Amino acid sequence: MTAASTIHQVLMCPPTAYDVCYEINPWMHLENRPDRSLAAKQWDALYQVLATKIGLTVHLIPQPPECPDMVFTANAGLVYEGKALLSQFRYPQRQPEVAYFRTWFEQQGYQVITPPSNCHFEGEGDALFVGDVLAAGYLKRSDICSHRWLADTLGLPVLSLELVDDRWYHLDTCFLPLEAHLVAYYPEAFDDYARTVIENNFETIPVCEEEALRFACNAVVIGHQVVLPTGCPQLTDALQQRGFVCYAVEMSEFLKAGGAAKCLTLLLR
Ligand code: ARG
Repeated sequence: MTAASTIHQVLMCPPTAYDVCYEINPWMHLENRPDRSLAAKQWDALYQVLATKIGLTVHLIPQPPECPDMVFTANAGLVYEGKALLSQFRYPQRQPEVAYFRTWFEQQGYQVITPPSNCHFEGEGDALFVGDVLAAGYLKRSDICSHRWLADTLGLPVLSLELVDDRWYHLDTCFLPLEAHLVAYYPEAFDDYARTVIENNFETIPVCEEEALRFACNAVVIGHQVVLPTGCPQLTDALQQRGFVCYAVEMSEFLKAGGAAKCLTLLLR
C-alpha cells in the first residue's frame, strides 16, 4: 500500500466567503473577481464527485468572512498518520486561516505540530506524497527550511524541488503524483536540478504549457480515479491509456484565485 491508496477522507471548505480581495499570485486580479454563485456551483460539483462518485467522506470546515482564500484547504497543513503539520503562510493575508485550521485539527484529535519560527510552510500545496517519498516545493511560498522539519517530524525522505515560475507557485500547481513511481508534471515550472531529480526518481508524464495553465496538475488522485479541471484533453488521454478513470470539473472561478480541484481538497491520511 502506498500513502496515496489509503485515502478515504478529505477536508473541504464550502465557499460562502470566497472572493479575490488581494493579489498574492499572478492569477489574482482585483478587477477579475469570481462569480460567487458560479463558484459555489463548481465547488459543489467537485464535492459531489468526491463524495458520491468516489465515495469519500468529506469533512467540512466553515469559512470565516475574513478568510476569502480559506476554501483552498490543501494549504491547511499536511496530515499524516494522526499528525497535522500546520501551515505557516508567507503572506499576512492568509495567516488568519491558521487558527481556524488548528482548532479543527485539534477537535478531530490530531497531534498538531507547528513549523519552526520564520520558516514558511504552505501544507499540502507544497508537500505531496509519491508512494512513501515526500516531494516538497520551495522558494515561492514554502521555505526550504520546512523540508528538514518535515523529514525530521515524519521520519521520511523528502525530495526538495525548486519552483522557478511565479504562475506555478505551489508544488500542487505543476506536479501530480499518480502512483508510487509515476507523476505528471510541468517541467518548465522547475529549475534544472529539480527536473533531474524528478526524472531520476520517477516515471513521468510531461504536461504541456497550455494544460499546465489550466491547472491540469491540480488534480485529486484517489487510487486510480483522478478529478481534474476541464480543458486538459492530453493529460486525460495519457491517464486513460494507463487505466485511470478521469472526472473533469469546471474550475474557472477558482482559477481566478490561482487554485483548482486539488487546492480545494486536503487529503486526510
Ligand atoms: N489564492 C490562494 C493563494 O495564493 C490560492 C491557493 C491555492 N492553493 C494551492 N494549494 N495551490 O494562496
